[in-house]
Formats: sequence, structure tokens, C-alpha cells
Amino acid sequence: MSEEKLLNGKRFADHLNLKLKEKITDAYKKMGKRPRLAALLVGQNPASMTYVNIKQKTCEDIGIDFTLINLDQNITKDQLFKEIDKVNNDDKVNGVILQLPLPKHLQEYSLEFVEHISPLKDVDGLHPYNQGKLFNYDEEFAPATPKGIIALLEHYNINFKGKEVIIINRSNLVGKPLIFMFLKRNSTITVCHTSTVNIENHIKRADILVVAVGRPKFITKDKIKKGAIIVDVGTNRVDGKLCGDVDFDRVLEKCSKVTPSPGGVGPLTVSFLCHNTFHVFKKQVNLS
Ligand SMILES: NC(=O)c1ccc[n+]([C@@H]2O[C@H](COP(=O)([O-])OP(=O)(O)OC[C@H]3O[C@@H](n4cnc5c(N)ncnc54)[C@H](OP(=O)(O)O)[C@@H]3O)[C@@H](O)[C@H]2O)c1
Repeated sequence: MSEEKLLNGKRFADHLNLKLKEKITDAYKKMGKRPRLAALLVGQNPASMTYVNIKQKTCEDIGIDFTLINLDQNITKDQLFKEIDKVNNDDKVNGVILQLPLPKHLQEYSLEFVEHISPLKDVDGLHPYNQGKLFNYDEEFAPATPKGIIALLEHYNINFKGKEVIIINRSNLVGKPLIFMFLKRNSTITVCHTSTVNIENHIKRADILVVAVGRPKFITKDKIKKGAIIVDVGTNRVDGKLCGDVDFDRVLEKCSKVTPSPGGVGPLTVSFLCHNTFHVFKKQVNLS
């Protein structure tokens, strides 16, 4: 594999996690307190359980206490609101995440639940207050995946100014936050989705292409511009193996840089969730 073309998210995340661990250890020495992240998980969705386990393991490795609140699959809307109240009002809990998607009977209220989380504990950056901050280019509470993507590109000294950025995704978690983050850095942005006409024409223009579609080999060598920088956010499982949205081996021949998947954006997402948790902890305990 040509190492110089890799945007090695795993290596960068390991480095960031080590630095964060040192800061958390120092804070503990000063105050005798550690940050705590509470994760609300409703039911036993296997994918959600895997994601929560990864978050728990990374938090604990770094020195962040982790509380998993696994709620019954059939919990009512009111009961879930009460569970959110509990973590909002618990001084020992600094950050709160609600693992999505929720079971079917609660899905239509997902936004209401997210809005119910205290914006000061909203380490997923999905509360409208924090989304509004991002609108004004304030990235303090930006979601972890976009933060990780931008940090990785900056780590590799990628120039954003005047670049054509094509984002294939318009979710609150990935595509929409990235619009403001690239705009802040003076890129020109196009957002594509399922209703985009002639998507190939857009992909072909991309200096920087971010793809988060959830389809293996959605991005093939013939579709990209020579020298493009590709960020593969997609997470898919094919024949039991994890892969992204990019036909990695073929695309590698034509692009200038690409994230592997796994080993690219995923580890940075978890790392920035931990960074967001330490950030809210510092604010809550007045640690500079
Ligand atoms: N590695 C990580 O840390 C990480 C973090 C977050 C997400 N992910 C992965 O990223 C992917 C997307 O996640 P998400 O939560 O944002 O999912 P999502 O809400 O379902 O978003 C998927 C997006 O892709 C668009 N899309 C789907 N098929 C398309 C097609 N054929 N042509 C053009 N656009 C298409 C959708 O368009 P519409 O809006 O029109 O439906 C939507 O905007 C998933 O594979 C997820 O597992 C990975």
C-alpha cells in the first residue's frame, strides 16, 4: 500500500488519544475528578451495541469514566424523557449521548429527545443550540465525525482555500456540519444526496470528496478527478468484513490522498467524542 497517499486516521487518533490521556491524568492529579460520559442506549440493536462498546473502551483507555444506561426496548416516550432528565441533572455526568437510531415506536421523536439533552452536556453536538453555534462558525460543540475529518485534513496540511469540496451526505451528523466547517476555511461546497441529478458530474469536480452514503464501492476510480483527496466515512460490512464507500485499491492509483476504512474516520470520531467530553468537563469544573 502506498503509505504516502494514506490519510491515516487510526495513527492520528492514537496520537491524539495519548495526549488527551495525559491531560486527563493531570486534571485528576489537580482535582481528584475524572470526566464522565453517560450513554443512553435503548434496546439491543447489535450495531448500536457495537458502537457503544467501542466508545466505552476508548473512553476507559483514556481515563474517562463511562456509564452505560441500557434501557428497555419498549420504554415509553415519557420514560425516556425522564431518563434524559436524570443524566442532565446528575452533577457527576459531564457529557451525554443518546445512541441513535431509536426503536421504531420512538423514532419520530428523535429530535425532541436530542433537544431535551442539556446543550452544555451535548457532546454529540446535535442540540439545535449547538447547531446554531456552528452556523456562526463556532466549532466548540461540533459533532465528532466532522471535527475528526477536518482535524485529519489539517494534520496532513491539506489546503482548503478555494478548493471544490463535494460532500455526498446531508445528515445532521456528517454532511450539514461539514458545510459550515469547510465554508469557514474558504472552500466552495456542493452537497449531494439521493435527489442529486447527474451526481457523477459533481464527483468529477471534487478536489476534496467526502462520501458518507453507506454503499460499498460507491466511489470508483473512473468517477474521481485525478489527484482528488478522498475522505471515506461510510461503514459497511461485506462478507463479514468492514469496508467503506470507496473502491479503495483502485481509487488509490488515481487519487492524491485517501482515508482507509476501517482505520480512517472511525477512530477519529471516537477520539473527538472523548475530546468533546473533556471539554465539557473542563467547563463544568472551571478547569482552564
Ligand atoms: N466512520 C464514522 O465514524 C461514521 C460516522 C457517522 C456515519 N458513518 C457512516 O456514514 C454513512 C452515513 O451515515 P449517516 O448517519 O449520515 O446516514 P444517513 O443519514 O442515512 O445519510 C446517508 C446520506 O447518503 C445519501 N445517499 C444515500 N444513497 C445515495 C445515493 N445513491 N446517491 C447519493 N446520495 C446518497 C443520503 O441522501 P438523502 O438525504 O437524500 O437520503 C443521505 O444524505 C453510514 O455508512 C454510516 O455508518 C460513519
